Amino acid sequence: MHPLEQLRNDALREIETAPDEQTLEVARVKYLGKNGTVSAWGEQMKTLAKAEKPVVGRLLNEVRDAVTAAIETRNAQFRSEKESSALARIDISLPGTPHEIGALHPLTQMWERSIEIFRRMGFSLADGPDIEEEWHCFDALNTPPEHPARNEQDTFYLPDGRLLRTHTSTVQIRTMQAAPPPIRVIAPGAAYRRDELDATHSPQFHQIEGLYVDENVSVADLKGALEFFMRELFGSGTDVQFRPHFFPFTEPSLEVYVKSKALKGGERWIEVAGSGVVHPAVFEQVNKARGDKAYDSEKWSGYAFGLGMDRLAMILFDIPDIRLFSQNDLRFLRQFA
Ligand code: DAH
Repeated sequence: MHPLEQLRNDALREIETAPDEQTLEVARVKYLGKNGTVSAWGEQMKTLAKAEKPVVGRLLNEVRDAVTAAIETRNAQFRSEKESSALARIDISLPGTPHEIGALHPLTQMWERSIEIFRRMGFSLADGPDIEEEWHCFDALNTPPEHPARNEQDTFYLPDGRLLRTHTSTVQIRTMQAAPPPIRVIAPGAAYRRDELDATHSPQFHQIEGLYVDENVSVADLKGALEFFMRELFGSGTDVQFRPHFFPFTEPSLEVYVKSKALKGGERWIEVAGSGVVHPAVFEQVNKARGDKAYDSEKWSGYAFGLGMDRLAMILFDIPDIRLFSQNDLRFLRQFA
């Protein structure tokens, strides 16, 4: 056996059995380092006879390649052993890093519950803008210019004469302008008034408007629908009371009160909505705007209502102060998550 072959066999055995990276590095230096045995053979080549040179040269190259490859292989083994032992130390049964998950605002929850109940009664959703024309907010709703609601002190007016709607009843008008009867819609949204902010008043509050127009719609239908709604929301033992009132756009007009033993402080009557039978003058305004007689009050009648969402949520969730809805205090909001 040529001494180079002997050298290769020794080197490969040493490399393959190297117990760790340090030992392997020592072996690498010993064979391939500047003063290593393999390198020394390169020096020795110069002294060989001319005829021997190509044979030994080729052999030397083979040996160097074999030793280099063996070192690389052994190194790769060490690397993968290290990786798998690092992975083995990870306990995949440990709990992960928790991420904060958001939740729906109590008013949004209130909205969703309400919409779900009205959907079951066949109502669909309608919508209108928060910035409104005076006509949609007042004139069309039979509310004359001298009415106090139109006072500068009560309503937010824009420089161009438009205003922030003071109620969602505007959507009644927009819906009837857009489609002939029958109509059965609810319109959830914000409303605005120049109220001083206190525990029960806010310049921005929220309503769900309802409008049902069909043949032979009566107060009885209105009472049935709202009683059903209140009992679905507050429990079947809820008492509902209708008290005569005045709204320009309904005749008769009724305020809606609830009392429920299931609720904290539920032993008293709380006002939650305005409602009534749509005034023929409202249909007349709509007809004028439409340019037809689609809302003929001889043929069609309807009821309407406006539910105070903030009020309902305060009762249902036992919230003492309307300002809590808009203060973004997580200690408050987390209670509804
Ligand atoms: N728009 C009234 C308010 O904000 C509430 C209301 C009363 C709405 C009677 C109605 C209704 O649709 O018929 O005070």
